[in-house]
Amino acid sequence: MRAPLIAGNWKMNGSLELVESFAETLSHTELPAGVELALMVPFPYLSVARARLPKAMAIGAQTLSDKSDGAYTGEVSGSMLSDLGMQMVLVGHSERRTLFGEDDAAVLARVQAALSAGLKPVLCLGETLEERDAEQTEAVVLGQLEAVMDALMPEQRRTLVLAYEPVWAIGTGRTATPEQAQQVHAAIRARLAQYDAGLAESMQILYGGSMKPDNAAELLAQADIDGGLIGGASLKVDDFLAICQSAG
Ligand code: G3H
Repeated sequence: MRAPLIAGNWKMNGSLELVESFAETLSHTELPAGVELALMVPFPYLSVARARLPKAMAIGAQTLSDKSDGAYTGEVSGSMLSDLGMQMVLVGHSERRTLFGEDDAAVLARVQAALSAGLKPVLCLGETLEERDAEQTEAVVLGQLEAVMDALMPEQRRTLVLAYEPVWAIGTGRTATPEQAQQVHAAIRARLAQYDAGLAESMQILYGGSMKPDNAAELLAQADIDGGLIGGASLKVDDFLAICQSAG
């Protein structure tokens, strides 16, 4: 049985004040039992978030370098994230793919860097609207999946979390319908089963793309949707908690 995972992604938003307000609210909130929680905050807030937020909530970064160390000005390595007590890192978010030119090879290199550092990569997959309209959704998403999975050892594959995020639903207020999302999640799980039936059974596949308190329950009720990767709604602690409650 897969535990639901609700992960917030603040993107390049937030402040020390926001970390503190989450800490204050969460200090007197009972977190839903059986729901795994995570929050991906910008690099400067990682340490304070780890120190101030409940230990039951994993803290993670939104990207990492594909290099382990060296003269790479401005980069942050996986071992630095582990050093700070991080457990997870997003890899291959569509904003990294489209705005920062990370292709499948770059995504794979970052997944490998995360695994080397003992971090759990949350591998993001998703198609653009043009690709969906051209009926390329499954080909694109499964291609992104295979570009990583084919290169990993079986035990490495089991470490990943996947997040299906249709690009046209990110930050747009336009959510995939539960049926649209379920269809892609089921296709991802069927492809995982070709690697290993146990992998398909155990791997958490999150949905991301305008998930909010008022649509979370019906998305999370789908058989192959194991949680959410929440952008905008993770910036408001009440909304984030409401989504977490829907997963309980
Ligand atoms: O990582 C989160 C996703 O990009 C979803 O963002 O909830 O603002 O649409 P959103």
